[in-house]
Amino acid sequence: MADKEIKQIKDLIIEAGKRARQESDFEPEQALTQPVKWPVNCLVGPGLEGAIACESKIGYVNGSKGWLIYRGYDIFDLCAHSTFEEVAYLLLYGALPTVSQFDNFKAKLIKYRDINYTIRLLMGFPIEKMNAMAALRIGTNFMRQELTYVDSDAYSPDFDTAISADEDSIPMETKPRGEEHAIYEFKKASAGNKPRSVDKNLQFSAEEESCYSLISGVSTVAGVVARLRQDRIPIEPDPSLSHAGNLIYVITGRKPTPIEEKIMDIALILHADHGMNASTFATMVVASTLSDMYFAIGSGIAALNGPLHGGANERVVKMLQEIGGPGNVNKWFEEKLAKKEKIMGFGHRVYKAYDPRARVLGPLAEYLVEHSGNEEIKKLFRTAKTLEKKVVSRLGKEKKIFPNVDFYSGIIYLCLGIPMELFTPIFAVSRVSGWTARVREYLKANRIFRPRAVYVGPFDKRYEPIKKRSS
Ligand code: ACO
Repeated sequence: MADKEIKQIKDLIIEAGKRARQESDFEPEQALTQPVKWPVNCLVGPGLEGAIACESKIGYVNGSKGWLIYRGYDIFDLCAHSTFEEVAYLLLYGALPTVSQFDNFKAKLIKYRDINYTIRLLMGFPIEKMNAMAALRIGTNFMRQELTYVDSDAYSPDFDTAISADEDSIPMETKPRGEEHAIYEFKKASAGNKPRSVDKNLQFSAEEESCYSLISGVSTVAGVVARLRQDRIPIEPDPSLSHAGNLIYVITGRKPTPIEEKIMDIALILHADHGMNASTFATMVVASTLSDMYFAIGSGIAALNGPLHGGANERVVKMLQEIGGPGNVNKWFEEKLAKKEKIMGFGHRVYKAYDPRARVLGPLAEYLVEHSGNEEIKKLFRTAKTLEKKVVSRLGKEKKIFPNVDFYSGIIYLCLGIPMELFTPIFAVSRVSGWTARVREYLKANRIFRPRAVYVGPFDKRYEPIKKRSS
């Protein structure tokens, strides 16, 4: 029975993939898929929109065609045929694992589910009163105390060779080495110019064990946070379960059905990586200072928390509840439009076509809802479908606004029995795999991130003693 249902799920994904391919051609954008010759010319908007910061072999998002590629593999194929563990390996190492590589990797992930010291620390904290993402970030910091050796005496990264161009430390606007003027010089990418400290920095800042412990441990922390927020004792991870199955188990205390496990696994694959989005960028910025992986992932979690990024799926469910039913969609939508308010779960900085992740999650949500006896969730889903039609017909062509990954993920998590405040932490649990992979890749030829702001303030102010200042 389970095999038949899993095949149905795969067929839904393959069908969604076919539809996506029919609506697109197969040409990648030249400018974003060729090796970069530094310094690069690009049109940059506020918030670094359009800026090219590095090369990467990890993933490619084509926003105008609705593509998402991890290491050369189409997201629809990975969702239909792979698993989260395999995708995490693929992102980190660039190739799908052999049997023995995969067995070793899975064994490591299972080992790192156990973070007893971190759990003990979390249990001494008022987690039930905290925002779940704040608690997740604290848990990640506690893992650092438990697992990292960066604080040990052995830690000594090679600062001189790996970083450059920070105006606070290296010749740019200050002149610690005697330069009279700021130097804005792009390092030429030649073999001789490669930072000598590459391996050392990788070893200290992003060594493999930290990546494994974070990919695995953040999921345990999410479970602990879920349980503590319900005034329950945390559940010990189950080594016999997959990453996805164990995640559902440690959050809900219930062993998932094979279908639930499969659907959670697909949701984790879909959220694993997505180019230089805000949280990935935050993670890379922190790592580029040669801080360590735990700090870097902590900042990724912080960036993901915002409602313009990972926090949207929780808001989508609240929005659907507020609408109250499919019959109310038209009126509600017109009011929002008149007030120029954004509709949660729609629009994307990069996608100006249908988000491929929403193409997968929509049918999976429908599948779960059809098999659910929960009338409230059924109503939410009908409301979502009606809203999707309305938004796409009004804003799709004109403004390229389509559902994004967050539109259906919340309904799926509700069907799996996940409490709403855990939606964004689950996003983080998956994205740790992309964050760690991108940091490791970036550190191999690290350059500290340091864009500039244009100063538009005055220059001619004179200091007034406080008593002389007028209000
Ligand atoms: N609903 C209605 N209109 C929208 C929406 C939306 N969700 N998103 C964008 N628009 C409109 C804007 O009002 C604007 O219209 P205008 O040109 O008439 O002023 C136009 O589309 C462009 O909008 P921007 O805000 O400039 O688009 P940007 O690329 O900066 O924003 C963002 C992307 C932040 C995701 C935005 O679409 C949004 O706020 N969506 C809702 C929140 C959401 O779902 N976030 C999750 C994103 S997915 C993720 O991060 C995992």
